[in-house]
Amino acid sequence: MDPGSFFASSRVLIVAGKGGVGKTAAAATIAVAAARTGRSVLLIEVSGRTSAAPMLGAEPQGYEQTDLVGTGAGISCRSLTPDQALVEWLSDHGFKRVAKRMAKSGVLEVVATATPGIKDLLVLGKIKQLETARAADLIVVDAPAAGHALGFLRSPAGVLDTARTGTIHRQAVEAMALLSDPERCRVMLVSIPEETPINELIETSFAVEDEVGISLGPVIVNAILPEIDGLDPEKVRRPHSRSITDSEVRDMCAAAAFRLERSALQKAQLLRLAAQLPLPQIRLPQLFVPHLGPDQIEQLADSMLSGIESLEGDS
Ligand SMILES: Nc1ncnc2c1ncn2[C@@H]1O[C@H](COP(=O)(O)OP(=O)(O)OP(=O)(O)O)[C@@H](O)[C@H]1O
Ligand SMILES: [Mg+2]
Repeated sequence: MDPGSFFASSRVLIVAGKGGVGKTAAAATIAVAAARTGRSVLLIEVSGRTSAAPMLGAEPQGYEQTDLVGTGAGISCRSLTPDQALVEWLSDHGFKRVAKRMAKSGVLEVVATATPGIKDLLVLGKIKQLETARAADLIVVDAPAAGHALGFLRSPAGVLDTARTGTIHRQAVEAMALLSDPERCRVMLVSIPEETPINELIETSFAVEDEVGISLGPVIVNAILPEIDGLDPEKVRRPHSRSITDSEVRDMCAAAAFRLERSALQKAQLLRLAAQLPLPQIRLPQLFVPHLGPDQIEQLADSMLSGIESLEGDS
C-alpha cells in the first residue's frame, strides 16, 4: 500500500499497548514516517512515563504546541494533561478568571470522583477539538499504558452512563463520534513478539473493536531480532586465527545458539499472532542502543514505510 494513502486514511492514530512495549517509540516512528510522506503531523503525548520528543532530538514538551526540527521536521508536539485541558475548557466557556484557581484548588479531583472517566474525556475532548480544527493533517496520540488505555478509550461511553444531559454529555457524544468513525480515528496496537504481550494484544484488540467500537489499523510488532547469517552452531568452523581460544569458541557457539532460540521463539509468536488476529502486521527491528534517538527513529521509520508498502490493498 502507498504510505501516502495509508497516512491519509485516518486523521487521528491512537498508539496503544502494554507498558514498555515501545508505544512512544512507535508513535515517534509513525510521526516521522507520515511527515516523510509530506503530511503535517501533530504528535500528542498523554502523560506517558517517557516522552517522544527526546527520541526526536527535542526537549520534553509541555501543553503548548511546539514545532520540532531536524528528524522531527514537519512534526509539532505537545503533551496533554487533564488539568490543563480543564483550564482551557473553562476559559473557552466563559470561566477564564476562575479557571486557574479552580484547577489549582483541586476541583478537578472532586469532579473526577463524581464523574468517573471525566479526566480521560477532557483529554479526548481536546484531541477531538484539534482534529475538528484540522490542527495537522495527521494527529498521532501516544496513549496511556496498559489497562489505562482501554479506560481512556471507554471514557466517553462511561461518562454517557452518568451524565445524561448537558455539556459533559455533549462532550462524550462528540468524543464517541470521533472514536467510532474510522476515517477520523483508528487505534494502532503495539506489542513485542513474546507470549504474554501477544496474548494481551489479542485481548485488547477484541475489546477495542467489539466493546468500544473503534477500528484498528495494522498491529505494530516491535523489537524483532534481525536475522544473522551463519549462526548455526553445527556449522561453525574454527577460524584459522590463533588469537581465539577454545573457550571463546564455546562461548560464541553458546551465544549463537541462544540468539537462534530467541529468534525461533519470536517467529512462533508472530505466526500465532497472525493466526489469532486477522490484522496486518508492521514489524520494527530491535536496535542495539541504550536509548532511542533521532537516528534510530529514522531507521525505524524506514522499516515502517517498507512495512506499509508491503501491506495489501486499502488496509
Ligand atoms: N525497536 C527498538 N529497539 C531498541 N530499543 C527500543 C525499541 N523500541 C523501544 N525501545 C526502547 O525500549 C524502552 C521502552 O520503549 P518506549 O518508551 O517506547 O515504550 P512504551 O511502551 O512507550 O513505555 P511506557 O509504557 O513506559 O510508556 C525505551 O528505552 C526505548 O528506547
Ligand atoms: Mg511511553
